[in-house]
Amino acid sequence: MAILPIYETPDPVLRQISSPVEEITPELQTLIDDMFATMYVAPGIGLAAIQVGVPKRLLVIDLQEPESDEEDAEGVKDPRVFINPEILETSDVTVPYNEGCLSVPDQYAEVLRPDRARVRWQERDGTVREEWIEGLLAVCLQHEIDHLNGILFIDHLSRLKRDMIMKKLVKARRDGGAKKAA
Ligand code: NI
Repeated sequence: MAILPIYETPDPVLRQISSPVEEITPELQTLIDDMFATMYVAPGIGLAAIQVGVPKRLLVIDLQEPESDEEDAEGVKDPRVFINPEILETSDVTVPYNEGCLSVPDQYAEVLRPDRARVRWQERDGTVREEWIEGLLAVCLQHEIDHLNGILFIDHLSRLKRDMIMKKLVKARRDGGAKKAA
């Protein structure tokens, strides 16, 4: 399994609209495995294919964020694959969640989203499923489906908050760069 580089904002790659997955091929299975490996190492709880530069409607989620000791985390992993996910309906109730994103590293902000969503998707074997999803999985799924449409969580914030995050990001990169150079 390969660890893939994750694209970070403001890279225009992240603004692409991803295309439907037409066929579940061995290459797609390899991509899914690589996406999980990449997500666990990051670490994160969700990753859309476009974040590793592949404009396909595919995302992976594992809400069991691995501990630093990977062997201990092995037993509690709950890998979920969503191919061509579609939100069919959402509840009127919105809930705030402090979101982060591997493409907006180390920045967090509260985003309001519907607390439940009826979602249709394909599993990695192609099986079509349709379910009402709630809780953190609903939040995470909506965040990841946004990625497939070129949307980042910071787009849901006020301009002021978004600008603040972008400034912090630039500063963090500059400081990180300085440390590496030292
Ligand atoms: Ni994200």
